[in-house]
Amino acid sequence: MFILGVESSCDETAFSIIERGKENSVIVEEIKSQIDLHKKFGGVVPEIASRSHYEVLTELMNGVMKRSGLNINDIGLISVTNGPGLIGSLLIGLSFAKGLSYSYKIPIIGVNHILSHAESPFITDLNNIKYPLLSLVVSGGHTTLFHFRTKFDFEVVSATRDDATGEVMDKVAKFLGLGYPGGPILDKLYEKGDPERFQFTIPKMSDGSDDFSFSGYKTAVLRRAASEGINKKNKDMYDLISSFLNSVTDYLILKIRSGLDRFEVKSITVAGGVSKNSLLRKKLRVFSKEKKIPLYLPDSKYCTDNASMVAWMGYEGFKTFPDNDYGNLYLDAYARKDFNTLI
Ligand code: KG4
Ligand code: ZN
Repeated sequence: MFILGVESSCDETAFSIIERGKENSVIVEEIKSQIDLHKKFGGVVPEIASRSHYEVLTELMNGVMKRSGLNINDIGLISVTNGPGLIGSLLIGLSFAKGLSYSYKIPIIGVNHILSHAESPFITDLNNIKYPLLSLVVSGGHTTLFHFRTKFDFEVVSATRDDATGEVMDKVAKFLGLGYPGGPILDKLYEKGDPERFQFTIPKMSDGSDDFSFSGYKTAVLRRAASEGINKKNKDMYDLISSFLNSVTDYLILKIRSGLDRFEVKSITVAGGVSKNSLLRKKLRVFSKEKKIPLYLPDSKYCTDNASMVAWMGYEGFKTFPDNDYGNLYLDAYARKDFNTLI
């Protein structure tokens, strides 16, 4: 079966065609990042994002169809992100997908963006990842640790109460005048500094919950930089960046560690834009060896937003819940979306 994936929840417009069933592979994918449009504002501007999605949709769709050599009638399912995300951006992709579905009578499924990130390691390790599993989704908009008993039987172990990990990285880089998005920029600078020079308090929730909190990191880094006059003109900045990354990655691993105290699992997965981070990947590999639990990370192109993970997730929902209504008339977009419903 061929599945068309459509992703437009934030600042990437992406289309993908995958094959699932006997064959399980990505056939073609197209992605257009809006980073250059948002760079000068130091973050994503929602109205610009929506307009840009609208401008490139048709061209990208034509691109995947042409390169795949398929006809639109060969597509057996359209899988589209319908939340969480920027509402205008989501609506552009969703409306386009609903139009296609209605015109060509193709079933459509709306998928949760966070769950499709959690699904992304399966694109390369479909037959290796075993349940139950602990899965961390760590990106610019989300930081959520899940315990999956099976793909659709899961619970949230920890979620962020304030900023997401990538968001704090982006804010720190912006404050230091390093550009946008900050995650990849800080990643490249890590090696230049001393990761032990500055100490940060690892956040702890006062109510004893397992949730994450990252806003304290942001305040601590910004205060330190301001009070000690650290900026991109002096070498201390590299020590501050390395120390910050060292502490944040320790914190993420600490939360996985405490998740493992609560749940016995056969695999660990970490996905989302921040899972591209070199230091985090390195520490996770050491941690997985120590715990003797296999670790699966997405291929680097499937860490950040993409449509292949959306198509992959949609197929899983469609296969598992064949009796749901995959008609298109009441599928809606949600800026915030809980994990209870797939469509
Ligand atoms: O998954 P994603 O594309 O979008 C969301 O769903 O949020 O993640 C984007 C985030 C940004 O905050 C970006 O700075 C971060 O992922 N990111 C990284 C790296 N590459 C992207 N963070 C740390 N290290 C990286 N190499
Ligand atoms: Zn994302």
